[in-house]
Amino acid sequence: MLQDPAKAAVVASCAAVGAYNLLKTTAGLLGSFNRHFLRGTYDMYARYGDAEKKSYSVVTGGSDGIGLELCMQTAAMGFNICIIGRNEEKMLRALKKIKDSYPKVETMHIVFDFNKYFTIDDYDSIIAKALKDIDIAMLFLNAGWAQAGSFAKISQEATEQ
Ligand SMILES: NC(=O)c1ccc[n+]([C@@H]2O[C@H](COP(=O)([O-])OP(=O)(O)OC[C@H]3O[C@@H](n4cnc5c(N)ncnc54)[C@H](OP(=O)(O)O)[C@@H]3O)[C@@H](O)[C@H]2O)c1
Repeated sequence: MLQDPAKAAVVASCAAVGAYNLLKTTAGLLGSFNRHFLRGTYDMYARYGDAEKKSYSVVTGGSDGIGLELCMQTAAMGFNICIIGRNEEKMLRALKKIKDSYPKVETMHIVFDFNKYFTIDDYDSIIAKALKDIDIAMLFLNAGWAQAGSFAKISQEATEQ
């Protein structure tokens, strides 16, 4: 027993902080365990797709980088894949990679350069026309280009690109 009330108060405060941290860590560990082992994953197709219509995930710039990964991930969830991009050869290579991994997935592509075409008429006559018969469950507007680093150091040429 601590006779000195000041010491007792310090010990009690430390015990309270320790108990708080222990609780916080335990809650974090339990939450993590729940997320990784108990909760399971969402069935995104059941949530957003249409079982009869074979819904599509449409990804602009899906032939590379983040876009290609979005294609792979949504193909794994059961969505058919449509890539919109400017380089047909590259899109076909990406779609083959997706098909090799998920043979049941149907794929399509639309050649469209977002630098060249940007009017509503362009979108209507090329993209909307090509997509008119499919059910779009997911749409990722990802096509683009990024340069990391300080804005002040980006060249005029890179900015224009
Ligand atoms: N990576 C990052 O750290 C980061 C960070 C923040 C934001 N972002 C943004 O995330 C998006 C994807 O980045 P990423 O790193 O995955 O880029 P990436 O690997 O260069 O892929 C970009 C994709 O977009 C396509 N694309 C580019 N310009 C296009 C155009 N004018 N018309 C049609 N398709 C075009 C590319 O096709 P081609 O190969 O044929 O050009 C490629 O498939 C970009 O919008 C980027 O700005 C990226």
